Amino acid sequence: MSTVSDLQNRALLEIAESADLQALDDLRVRYLGKKGEITAQLKSLGSMEPEQRRSFGQAVNAARDALNQAIGERRQALEAAALEQKLLREKVDVTLPGRGERRGGLHPVTMAMERAIGIFTKLGFDVATGPEVEDDHYNFESLNFPPHHPARAMHDTFYFGDGRLLRTHTSPVQIRVMEQSDPPYRIIAPGKVYRSDSDQTHTPMFHQIEGLLVGRGVSMADLKGVLHTFVNAFFERSLTMRFRPSYFPFTEPSAEVDIGWEKDDGSEPGWLEILGCGMVHPNVLRGCDVDPEEYTGYAFGMGIERLAMLRYGVTDLRQFFDNDLEFLKQFH
Ligand code: PHE
Repeated sequence: MSTVSDLQNRALLEIAESADLQALDDLRVRYLGKKGEITAQLKSLGSMEPEQRRSFGQAVNAARDALNQAIGERRQALEAAALEQKLLREKVDVTLPGRGERRGGLHPVTMAMERAIGIFTKLGFDVATGPEVEDDHYNFESLNFPPHHPARAMHDTFYFGDGRLLRTHTSPVQIRVMEQSDPPYRIIAPGKVYRSDSDQTHTPMFHQIEGLLVGRGVSMADLKGVLHTFVNAFFERSLTMRFRPSYFPFTEPSAEVDIGWEKDDGSEPGWLEILGCGMVHPNVLRGCDVDPEEYTGYAFGMGIERLAMLRYGVTDLRQFFDNDLEFLKQFH
């Protein structure tokens, strides 16, 4: 009898001290399982005298019930504690102020680029693209640069050494477009270009938009009209514009375009160069199987950073590529 009550007391103590549900279940198996200690006591009943069996049986049954109850209560307590901990861990203070989200924005060069593309698209131009890694043929040869022409040296080209190079302008896209289909053509080609050059007004990578329009009876007056429409739309004001004679191997005649620009400081307005253009050279057309007797056309190329600097009043081109958030967030 005293064995049973010893057993019960020891078991109750262990149950009360069990640290978690797993430990509690181990105790249940140890005392009440098929091979458990209480179960063993019940099994020993068979070999007892009837008199002894009765009182001993009652004691063992009572012990079993007591353990069962203690285990049930301990389980509830442990489960409640576990839930309490989980709730504490996952607690969210809904009264805390939000962290706030910084709003991103488009880069000013992207904004200027999209603005220019939008204007030309409305004027009926399609967007064409070409690779940034080109070769001598597309970047120079087909654009009427003779092999040792000094104009090549003006371009500060990045060469890969295997005949490939980084395009120095978007003009090669003119050739790719004309090779691919028959005239008429009316495209713009926006994209990155590269020159080995770096100072306040030059970065090794910058963006251009090329324009090409070829058809029957296209004249320089058409070119000037489209460009004037473009600059007025881009800067949202009525600007004066002039063509200044210039030279590009792939256009004849060629011109550089200046706009009359008033500075914020109220000083005398001056002329600012914003792009190069001209009538597509007959050699360029012929090289693409376009008959210059039948078709004429114009081309232009402009630097997007230049336009962005003027529109947003930025004085150092390199700021566009410093990734200084204080600078960039002004444009949001
Ligand atoms: N490709 C010339 C440049 O990068 C610009 C240009 C394009 C001039 C088309 C005339 C015609 O300087």
